[in-house]
Amino acid sequence: MIEPRRFSRLRLAAFDAVERVTVLLGARRFYRWRYLSAERLGVREHILRIPGLPPALQGITIAHLSDIHAGPFLSGADLAAVVSLIEQRRPDFVCWTGDYVTHGVEDVLPVLPDLRRCVGQRGTFAVFGNHDYKLRREWEIVAALEPDGWHFLRNRSKTVEVDGSTVAFAGIEDPEEGKVIDVDAALELVGAADVVIGLCHGPRGAPAFAGHPAAHVHAVLSGHTHGSQVDLPFLRDLGPPHPGLRVELGGTTVFVARGLGVVGLPLRTGAPAEVSFVTLQSGPESDQNLSDAG
Ligand SMILES: [Fe+2]
Ligand SMILES: [Fe+2]
Repeated sequence: MIEPRRFSRLRLAAFDAVERVTVLLGARRFYRWRYLSAERLGVREHILRIPGLPPALQGITIAHLSDIHAGPFLSGADLAAVVSLIEQRRPDFVCWTGDYVTHGVEDVLPVLPDLRRCVGQRGTFAVFGNHDYKLRREWEIVAALEPDGWHFLRNRSKTVEVDGSTVAFAGIEDPEEGKVIDVDAALELVGAADVVIGLCHGPRGAPAFAGHPAAHVHAVLSGHTHGSQVDLPFLRDLGPPHPGLRVELGGTTVFVARGLGVVGLPLRTGAPAEVSFVTLQSGPESDQNLSDAG
């Protein structure tokens, strides 16, 4: 079990005040133009090498999207370039690692048409982020997206068979705001021969997957950090702890997405909005990034 960690009301109120001012100055239009246009959207490509990977899983691709933060800075149709990219690439799986909204569940309504189109050919899996639990109405997001094939992994797993081989996706509730964060339950039904992908909004939860005695988790997909969002050395202490974009923990590779949206300020510096693709390949060890564009 992971103990929840919560931020102070004072800090959240300060973010809120700055946000209101920038919205009045046209923040949403600026953010879409500056960070979410087809020309500026970042695309990161990773290879995940797995010893003994079954041939059926060779080349399987997972798109990783995170932290859209629908709300004042991102809303209806702002994800058009992301939708285009996903529809063009047609990844086998799409994984979402939380923070669909900034302030409340209503924020997600204008972006639902786009979210419904960002799905994998073989499956779409999702976990919640700390922002999604406002008033404990996250179930409304589940109700809106599950009919379109999204599977929310709330301390549970789901497996997908690909020509006789299995990929298991195991997700947990957010390590800050989830009521119960149970990695044991998430991995309970995972098979020994499965390729296992963990989903956890905050990378703080990744070590519990990596060190789990009952299952070998090959990769963990996380978000939450926004790549530090405004990645300047003197501001780093204000954001969530940022372990890096790709971290090796024993035999587990943790991919930390910079995400697509923002909180507090409609600005990113050194941390472009991005979509990541993780491609499975057989091999002795995890490889370096193919590219780090954007
Ligand atoms: Fe976030
Ligand atoms: Fe978050």
